[in-house]
Amino acid sequence: MDSREIEADLTEVLVTEQQIRDKLAELARRIEADYEGRDLLLVGVLKGAVMVMADLARELKPHVNMDWMAVSSYGAGTTSSGVVKILKDLDSDLSGRDVLIVEDIIDSGLTLSWLTGNLASRGAASIEICALLRKPDAAKVEIDVKYLGFDIPNQFVVGYGLDFAERYRNLRDVAILAPHVYS
Ligand code: XMP
Ligand code: MG
Repeated sequence: MDSREIEADLTEVLVTEQQIRDKLAELARRIEADYEGRDLLLVGVLKGAVMVMADLARELKPHVNMDWMAVSSYGAGTTSSGVVKILKDLDSDLSGRDVLIVEDIIDSGLTLSWLTGNLASRGAASIEICALLRKPDAAKVEIDVKYLGFDIPNQFVVGYGLDFAERYRNLRDVAILAPHVYS
């Protein structure tokens, strides 16, 4: 696909690369202050969170550990059912660790609701969430997200790690996917 074809698939840029960079810097300063003197384990959720993880981790001044999980939600069509399967588990033992889950987007909230419960059962000392994006109008469960980038409208977005059928992940901005692409 050339860049003109990609542009035709997008209706609007919602969050620019520069806005993301500025926001992650702001969140990183808060995280540094909140975890001062403690060892932090960043847990990224594959694959959508790779860009947030890479940029947030490098924005953080103190040493952090990084680990990854891959999960998939079962359910009909494109909507999350809340029933989650672990495709790749963490390598780390969580007992006594301060864990910060790093996510791309909170949609219904069902995935993160399940994930925080699952990680809590492994004996972490603390579990908090950092998510770049949230769709407040799509929430099915309340998620207590301590570090949030942007609230966005309830539309399907791609870029900065977010995909449609594995495409558009490497776009630098977050943009709304044109309905003609998926309907
Ligand atoms: P829930 O509904 O459980 O879903 O909060 C979270 C996961 O669903 C994916 N998701 C999206 N992916 N554009 C995407 O590319 C979107 O607008 C979108 N909304 C949800 C994503 O993997 C997220 O972790
Ligand atoms: Mg995700």
